[in-house]
Amino acid sequence: MIRVVATTPYDGQKPGTSGLRKKVPVFQQPHYIENFVQALFDSLDAFEGETLVIGGDGRYYNREAIQTVLKMAAAAGFGRVLVGKGGILSTPAASCVIRKHEAFGGIILSASHNPGGPEGDFGIKYNIGNGGPAPEHVTDAIFERSKTIREYRILDGEDVDLDALGITRLGDMVVDVIDPVEDYAELMGELFDFDAIRDLFASGFSMRFDAMSAVTGPYATAILEETLGARPGTVMHGTPLPDFGGHHPDPNLVHAKELCDLVMSEEGPEFGAASDGDGDRNMIIGRGRFVTPSDSLAIIAANAHLAPGYKAGITGIARSMPTSGAADRVADKLGITCYETPTGWKFFGNLLDAGLATVCGEESFGTGSNHVREKDGLWAVLMWLNILATRRQSVAEIVADHWQTYGRNYYTRHDYEEVDSAAADALMADLRARLETLPGTVINGLTVERADDFAYRDPVDGSVTTKQGIRVFFEDGSRIVYRLSGTGTAGATLRIYLERFEPDAARHDLDTQDALAGLVQIARDLPDIEGRTGRSAPTVIT
Ligand code: G6P
Ligand code: ZN
Repeated sequence: MIRVVATTPYDGQKPGTSGLRKKVPVFQQPHYIENFVQALFDSLDAFEGETLVIGGDGRYYNREAIQTVLKMAAAAGFGRVLVGKGGILSTPAASCVIRKHEAFGGIILSASHNPGGPEGDFGIKYNIGNGGPAPEHVTDAIFERSKTIREYRILDGEDVDLDALGITRLGDMVVDVIDPVEDYAELMGELFDFDAIRDLFASGFSMRFDAMSAVTGPYATAILEETLGARPGTVMHGTPLPDFGGHHPDPNLVHAKELCDLVMSEEGPEFGAASDGDGDRNMIIGRGRFVTPSDSLAIIAANAHLAPGYKAGITGIARSMPTSGAADRVADKLGITCYETPTGWKFFGNLLDAGLATVCGEESFGTGSNHVREKDGLWAVLMWLNILATRRQSVAEIVADHWQTYGRNYYTRHDYEEVDSAAADALMADLRARLETLPGTVINGLTVERADDFAYRDPVDGSVTTKQGIRVFFEDGSRIVYRLSGTGTAGATLRIYLERFEPDAARHDLDTQDALAGLVQIARDLPDIEGRTGRSAPTVIT
């Protein structure tokens, strides 16, 4: 029986690029999730009898939310739901399942790399039939609907047993509890040379993968250990926990420190990698050599042809604007285009759909390709393994060789977190106002060549996105980018991206912060960060 329940709107159910993200207690308010899901269904057309994919990253409140979504999907008239066993589906796996089964769309329960647990974050996001995040006109429609909602529809029924594989029914809707790993692992097997990787592990190659007690544990264990023969224990923190063991499931030098220390030590494994809460981010590290996400994208692009799924070559590369120009150098050499997009994975969707780009990446630890429409942490790890298995060189050798060929883009990001929002806005406004007068100015010995506020015109649909970050270019080819984070939860986060190109191989082994020290000083002085924010140093340097 379908129940129609009266409700009143909640404020602020505005989905961002990565869906609606709030603290768990916000989601636990009466009718909160129901309102949002009804607003979502009300914003979609013609899904009667269609298939919906549902899964999440296993964080606290995942199962409860899924039961609600299932009953509402049945009441809304979906014909079939594919839901991951245990309520689990990594974000890239959800994208893969949507595409493979030609589903109408999917609902992913996740707050990505944000901490979980009863006081942590929760999130819900809708992906469309191409497997990618809903475009803005859909998320806008959901938000508008959420402001006027008066009732929602939900099936009165028993909870679905999410731990039993196979088919059950919820009213007229078929519920298929699927193995969350199977379809994804099969796709990886088509893209990469699993035999070569198996040989690599059989030869004694050592690796550690940190699943950060989040969703990639089951995927990495099945693929790396059980399929590719990596030794048991390769996957650390491999069991998804509702609170991620109290950690921040974000793969970077700060939050994956245990892994980094291990791989940086002399006796450590040769290769290390990690992924975030929902499995879309990745970090790559070789013994003694951390690979920046920008370099990783460039190296993947230069070597992709070694993997069977990309042996015909790549058609184009796409990177977000703040990501370093290392990939552009590869594109130049390959004679293909490197597209420069605003920050946010959604900007790659059209380029991938249109076949203009094959691989894409962002400095924020995201890398992926046209195989799905989300960034994909394990994909990047398997791509690296494929490259290592084919080239039989260490990560450090591959990186050094890459710099030798293309030059090195020294790159770092300095974040000022939880800055007063008004101060941060004023700082950006002031920079914007000075754009025209900056060229020709000499600061600390470097001359500004040009400066702008990045705007993007999508080459496929012509849409224009403005105010995506202040760029200051210097005559020696260096670049400083100022941008306010779009994902912070408290105050504003000012991100400063610094980059300097070094063609001379004799100067490729400098410490990054030393190599960029002059530029760092300029970046601080130019907008008077200390004067405006009271901060004499960044909170995080990556
Ligand atoms: C999310 C998106 C990424 C984006 C990142 C930027 O993780 O999925 O595509 O690069 O946010 O975050 P920021 O805090 O810099 O706006
Ligand atoms: Zn994520």
